[in-house]
Amino acid sequence: MQRTRVKDVLKGELGGQVEMGGSVLLKGWVRTRRDSKEVSFLELNDGSCLANMQVVVDHSPELLSFLERLNTGAACAVQGEIVASPAAGQQWEVRVSGFTIYGEADPETYPLQKKRHSDEFLRTIAHLRPRTNKYGALLRIRSEMAFAVHSFFRERGFAHVHTPILTGSDCEGAGEMFRVSNLEPALAAALSPVEREAAEFFGRPANLTVSGQLEAEMLALALGKVYTFGPTFRAENSNTPKHAAEFWMVEPELAFADLAEDMDLAEAFVCALVRHALTHCAEDLALFANFVDKTLLGTLTGLLDKPFVRLPHAEAIRVLLASGRDFEFPVHAGSDLQTEHERFLCEEHFRCPVIVYNYPKDIKPFYMRVNDGGLTVAAMDLLVPRIGELIGGSQREERLDVLESRMAETGLPTEPYWWYLDSRRFGSVPHAGFGLGFERLLMLVTGIANIRDVIPFPRTPRNLEF
Ligand code: 4AD
Ligand code: MG
Repeated sequence: MQRTRVKDVLKGELGGQVEMGGSVLLKGWVRTRRDSKEVSFLELNDGSCLANMQVVVDHSPELLSFLERLNTGAACAVQGEIVASPAAGQQWEVRVSGFTIYGEADPETYPLQKKRHSDEFLRTIAHLRPRTNKYGALLRIRSEMAFAVHSFFRERGFAHVHTPILTGSDCEGAGEMFRVSNLEPALAAALSPVEREAAEFFGRPANLTVSGQLEAEMLALALGKVYTFGPTFRAENSNTPKHAAEFWMVEPELAFADLAEDMDLAEAFVCALVRHALTHCAEDLALFANFVDKTLLGTLTGLLDKPFVRLPHAEAIRVLLASGRDFEFPVHAGSDLQTEHERFLCEEHFRCPVIVYNYPKDIKPFYMRVNDGGLTVAAMDLLVPRIGELIGGSQREERLDVLESRMAETGLPTEPYWWYLDSRRFGSVPHAGFGLGFERLLMLVTGIANIRDVIPFPRTPRNLEF
């Protein structure tokens, strides 16, 4: 007999293989067991949706022997008949005729008993937390959002490209890279720097990428419109709720585009993703709206109500200075925006997402296009409530001479970037792109406050379990 998923049984209208009075085979994990005098009730979850299937078990001698072994956490197959449920809150239940037990779970030691567990505790059992309602819902939303990323770009004619994870260059120039080496540490320590470089697998230092942008630019300058969506790594030692050492970034890159088109794309992208979540993840989102952030659905629909505010960095500074707020990091003309400033702008002042653009040149990476006047670059950050920066992007410097002098200014050697500079030597065009932090998007969509709870196995300072 073919297995049916709970989601398909609960869809409301039974049909196809599943019919009223028909027989089904379900496979999943017991969430709870409730025993009454003559029957027991199992809540079975198979991961296909938030809802459990109520399974009703008569206390017949043969079923009782199975029941004793079916505690919270046990994995089993249930064969039975679908009947209308007399209980409130569910349309169908299954009357069991037979069980197969795959794996028992000892009630004394299984950590996920029926009670509310703290996020901190659940992080210590990241291998089991996907079996809770909250993390199951999050993981289904995560999957649905990844799909939405691909369909957004596919509909708009972008090519999906794969940029390398191992790299020899530092895209952001911030020196926050993880070194990768195949050498035994003791052996490497005994070598001189020159010997060591020669002994390295690549014959030179290698790192995990902080961004696929530089390579994505090369591909955009051939295919026109591309995006890459992959893991990126940063060794910044910032133990904050919105920084992870390993996170996923979506990076589109557009040839023949300027900063305004880049901002248009970023805004359309965020709105499309939020809309997708509202239409395709309603059941799972309701859990977050009920238990995590009561204002979630209002915040999400509110994002779609009106265009995002766009304002130059200098204006943003003026707004912050005029606010009279006592910020932890005081603001001045050339200052970068901290999370508290970003949140003030979109939560209190404008009450909607804000795109800040034209940042001072000195606080931004070498590849951003220098604006007329030479003081600012064509950068943009898209800020959202609760999180602050969700997207960072820019128009790229397409003029070889300006790019070379920017690299000199920021102390970057040009030799390792010879191939990047080549793209400005041969058929250079204005182009632009951005990076969206996929975990931060999930924080926005679910209301979850800590990045450690939107990725299955988070990597943060001093945390590499699992
Ligand atoms: O602003 P960032 O550093 O921009 C870049 O890396 C560009 N090369 C992207 C591009 O133009 N193609 O990072 C982009 C986004 C941020 O806005 C943020 O959402 C996310 O990546 N991000 C992080 N997310 C989680 N943990 C971290 N440590 C992050 N650092 C950046
Ligand atoms: Mg940034």
